[in-house]
Amino acid sequence: MTNISRPSVLSGMRPTGKLHLGNYMGALANWVKLQDDYECYFFIADWHALTTDYADTSQVKANIGEVALDWLGAGLDPEKCILFLQSKVLEHAKLHLLFSMITPISWLERVPTYKEQQENLTGKDLTTYGFLGYPLLQAADILLYQPQFVPVGQDQVVHVELTREIARRFNQFYKIGGNEVLPEPKVLLTPSPKLPGTDGRKMSKSYGNTIMLTDTETEVRQKLKTMVTDPARVRRTDAGDPDKCPVGDLHKVFSTPEKLDEVYAGCRSAGIGCIQCKGWAADSLVQILGPIQGRRAGYTAKQALEIIEAGSVRAQQRAAQTMREVDAAMQMPIG
Ligand code: TRP
Ligand code: SF4
Repeated sequence: MTNISRPSVLSGMRPTGKLHLGNYMGALANWVKLQDDYECYFFIADWHALTTDYADTSQVKANIGEVALDWLGAGLDPEKCILFLQSKVLEHAKLHLLFSMITPISWLERVPTYKEQQENLTGKDLTTYGFLGYPLLQAADILLYQPQFVPVGQDQVVHVELTREIARRFNQFYKIGGNEVLPEPKVLLTPSPKLPGTDGRKMSKSYGNTIMLTDTETEVRQKLKTMVTDPARVRRTDAGDPDKCPVGDLHKVFSTPEKLDEVYAGCRSAGIGCIQCKGWAADSLVQILGPIQGRRAGYTAKQALEIIEAGSVRAQQRAAQTMREVDAAMQMPIG
């Protein structure tokens, strides 16, 4: 490995199960690009899954396997980056505990996602300590690897900002010979194109409108058929506007510029029908998904988990290095 001097990035994903195109475009595709230029740590945040799903843990293990396979399918390469599982690196729990000692509760209560999520996920009792501490565990996840950058989408920016505040507070209290131990990482904002699901709303597992990375060509074509279109285009002879159509949005993300030109011209002149246009969109999706599924099929679930195990050993070594500094700074070199 010659990546010692490269700047480092860390990011993570909760094990929600098989991933969809929104997960791919909003995170994975970006991670795959980063692995060539950065020292990368990517992990599955299985303890974070418990913050909302503590009452039913029956799916967590299977979900970890599916996420690992989707990562490999997407092109994350264990030769280039460190892929690991949060719960395999106990240092995450230790640093979280130490952070919990120095973090005012008000900082956590003020994180906007805290109240929002409690209101949105009404079916669950989220008055737990773990749920309040979610962003603190995330701060530990990040700072444990002393990364320069954290590639995340807009929704996670507040969590990285809190992480920076935690680092600052830690560094004020504890130093080694006057030197700070936990550098403040910067957000590397993942550009996320508008990616609608089949119902026209943002593609999201909770809306049930997703196209999965593992969907077969038949499934993709079937889903596209049911996809909503520009509501102004009622009859075949009505002109439409791809800028007001979720299928148009898919073309913008996945189709070639030439095809996109055809879509604009054909839709606005009523020269093409929506069925044909959806067929083209499906073609583009199949083009993207083919190689992902091909790579995914090259691994068994067992192999994917072995890769994550091996990555976790390497991640643990890096985490232990930070914890030695943390312990020394806190004058608690007892571990
Ligand atoms: N909270 C992130 C999400 O829901 C997942 C996550 C956990 C994470 N720990 C992290 C992301 C550390 C980046 C860095 O998507
Ligand atoms: Fe949407 Fe295509 Fe139909 Fe235009 S032709 S409304 S872009 S599906």
